[in-house]
This record gives sequence, structure tokens and C-alpha cells, in this order.
Amino acid sequence: MHKFSSIAPAIIRLTLCCLLLFSSLGCAANAAIPTDGPYGYISPSSDGIGKLYYGREIANVMGYQGANWLARPSRATEERSDMAVDALMLKSDDVVADIGAGLGYISFQLADWVADGKVIAVDVQPEMLALLEVERDRYHLNNIETVLSTESDPNLPTESIDMAVMFDAYHEFAYPAEMMAGIVRALKPGGQVVLAEYRAENPLVLIKKHHKMSQKQVKKELAAAGLTWVKTDDRLPQQHLMFFEKLA
Ligand SMILES: C[S@@+](CC[C@H](N)C(=O)[O-])C[C@H]1O[C@@H](n2cnc3c(N)ncnc32)[C@H](O)[C@@H]1O
Repeated sequence: MHKFSSIAPAIIRLTLCCLLLFSSLGCAANAAIPTDGPYGYISPSSDGIGKLYYGREIANVMGYQGANWLARPSRATEERSDMAVDALMLKSDDVVADIGAGLGYISFQLADWVADGKVIAVDVQPEMLALLEVERDRYHLNNIETVLSTESDPNLPTESIDMAVMFDAYHEFAYPAEMMAGIVRALKPGGQVVLAEYRAENPLVLIKKHHKMSQKQVKKELAAAGLTWVKTDDRLPQQHLMFFEKLA
């Protein structure tokens, strides 16, 4: 008998054993991650909450105690949010929701563009909205409203907004599926969602890991919300500026 034919059954048996071993290891690994609907749970990393969505660990919410960082003088040159807001191509009568508005760094810039419309500044922390309201009232910016969200609901009326923007905020949503469902419901048909997120693909963007996102991940998660990717604008120094649409 040829030498190979004598060892072939042993090779086949070994291969089958390996396949069985690896598939049972895979099952064990899956079973080790508890799930709840679209979410999985792991032990939290230093800047994450231990909750997974499409394989991404959701980031800690930036507390209002650190709000000063959002208004740091270097931010204008680091992020060039003036260019981002310019890229939105807002019409003066648009209604735009700034979700995760913080103390209003972006809301105040949006307000200049929608003189006949309005900005709805939404945040889950009442303390952030209180800081925003002080500045809004000081500068008499009458076209900015504030709305307190919950972790899972932006609390916006159905088909009431032309655009929702999230600057450096989406990665913190503890319930991204539910938040996005609420945002999509609040959009008028044909309305847009725009995300600015620090580029995870670039190690030179020196932001904590879970506070950055890759384009691939953003597209996956917003497709799950029923949104259609339109374009990614590359003009910003450190962030992806990604446009999505709710089809009419
Ligand atoms: C890093 S800050 C960015 C603030 C603002 N967009 C800016 O660029 O200055 C993220 C904000 O998102 C808010 N946030 C986190 N989860 C939220 C949720 N589920 N609904 C609304 N706001 C949320 C936080 O409270 C925080 O103010």
C-alpha cells in the first residue's frame, strides 16, 4: 500500500477533531458574552462602560464636571468645527437638532446658520443644558431651544427636524439603537443625520480609544438604524464628518 493511504484516515480523524475543538471553543467564547437584545457585556475598560454594540465598547459619558474641556481655546484650530458647520449646507429656515450638545459649542455656531429656523440642543445631562442656557440667554440667541433626553430617547416630536447632528457624542450613547430609532422617527422624510467622530483609523489622533470611531463601524451602526450613507467629508483635521439620509 502507498505510504499516504495508510496515514490518510489518521489525518482525516485529526482534522475532524481540530474542527470540533475549534467550533466548541468558538461556542464557549460566544456563550461567555452575556447579551441583551443588540447589546453584549464585558468587563469595562478604563474609558468604556463594558457594553458592546456591533462589537464596539460604548464610551463613558463625559461628565459635566469636565465641560470646560469642550470650550478650550485650542479647540477651534484643533477641530475646525467652523468648517464642519459650513459643510452642513443648512438652509436658514431649517430645524436642526444638536444631539449630545454639551454646553453648546456647536449649537451656538449652528444658530448663526438657521436664523429663520431653530436649533434644538439635546443632552442627557441637565447640568450641561443649564450651562448652555446661561450663555444662550446672555447672548440673546432666541433660536436655540433645549431638550432633556433620556439615555434611550431624544424626546423629539415625530418628523419635526430637518437634520440631526452629533459632534463627538454618538459613541457615548448607552442605548445607541434606541436613541437612533428616536432620532430617525424625529427626522422629516429626506432629513439627514451628520456625525463628527474622531478617526479611529489614525493612531496619531490622540483621543482615548473608545471616544474614536472608524468609518466602517459608524456605517454598520447607522445602517442598522435604517439610514443610508450619503458621503464622508474629509475636510476636518481629526474627525470623520459622515452624512446619512432617511430616505423619503
Ligand atoms: C464629548 S461631549 C460633546 C458635546 C458637544 N457635542 C460638543 O462637541 O461640544 C458628549 C455629550 O453627549 C452627551 N450625551 C451622552 N449620551 C447622551 C444621550 N443618550 N442623549 C443625549 N446626550 C448624550 C453628554 O452628556 C455630553 O454632553
